[in-house]
Amino acid sequence: MHDVFQNHPPSPIQEIWAEVLDQHAIELLVKRDDLLQPAGDDRFCGNKVRKLKYNLQAAREAQQSQLLTFGGAYSNHIAAVARAGKRYGFRTVGVIRGEAHEPLNPTLAQATADGMHLHYLDRDTYRKKDQPEILRSLLDRFGASYVLPEGGTNELALRGCEELVTEIRQQLGSLPDYLAVACGTGGTMAGIIRGCIRRSRVLGVSALKGNWMEKEIRRLLGQDDDLTNWQVFTDYHFGGYARFPPELRAFTREFEREHGIRLDPVYTCKLFYGILDLIGKGVFPKGSRIVVVHSGGLQGWNESMDQKLGLPR
Ligand SMILES: Cc1ncc(COP(=O)(O)O)c(C=O)c1O
Repeated sequence: MHDVFQNHPPSPIQEIWAEVLDQHAIELLVKRDDLLQPAGDDRFCGNKVRKLKYNLQAAREAQQSQLLTFGGAYSNHIAAVARAGKRYGFRTVGVIRGEAHEPLNPTLAQATADGMHLHYLDRDTYRKKDQPEILRSLLDRFGASYVLPEGGTNELALRGCEELVTEIRQQLGSLPDYLAVACGTGGTMAGIIRGCIRRSRVLGVSALKGNWMEKEIRRLLGQDDDLTNWQVFTDYHFGGYARFPPELRAFTREFEREHGIRLDPVYTCKLFYGILDLIGKGVFPKGSRIVVVHSGGLQGWNESMDQKLGLPR
């Protein structure tokens, strides 16, 4: 088991083959960050490791023994913070959007089992969670904490995601023509854009409906907002966040059967669907090398998902 505060071995890069890749002479590689599992399982993996690494280090340096963070009831980030807290010795508080529902869904049940204290905020108050008085009342109630924003996106998270690019460059000997990643808050993509320093074109596929992602990424890039080597595709949300309609299910099932790689139902299935669709449409020049980042998110997968998709266990 590797400590998140030390250097972990790089996640592997795996090439995949498909007819559409041959037809368009594209080399497609998958950066298997889903296999980056410093706590020993997929409850804490993928972009969560990248985003939390320097935050956990900062929390420890600040001698904080408690992490407090925010998320929806199905948040991968909530699950990851709970598991990281358990693994690295922090108490954890998860401030959850909306009302409590019993029984807890698998994400929150797991977070509780990992020792996270759940606190629910009605949607109205949750929306105002970044206002100083709301945050203060939470800290008064739960005690001094290292506060992680929703989705874990902050400067230190971007720094962790930049390292993904360094790793890829070391593994391949050079950066690919394109690097593709799924977007939720945009933090992972912003870190990757910074890491590329104009050498690869970074493609984001948004898991959410709407056209605000590029603006948000520019905001996250801050003084690096003059970087232009990137773009976000917003046509692959399949109805919006956490929508997983039959076409996407069928794609996810076939992808796993053909390539032996499980995609998560919220982010990476839309990413791979989108990139393969763009390849089929001839968007990339022949001979291009594309690295697609598998950012994890498999913690919410359970047996009922296998049954839904008709996958063998
Ligand atoms: C598996 C997975 N991939 C990608 C993302 C998107 O990351 P970001 O919020 O940094 O855009 C998330 C977000 O939580 C995620 O859980």
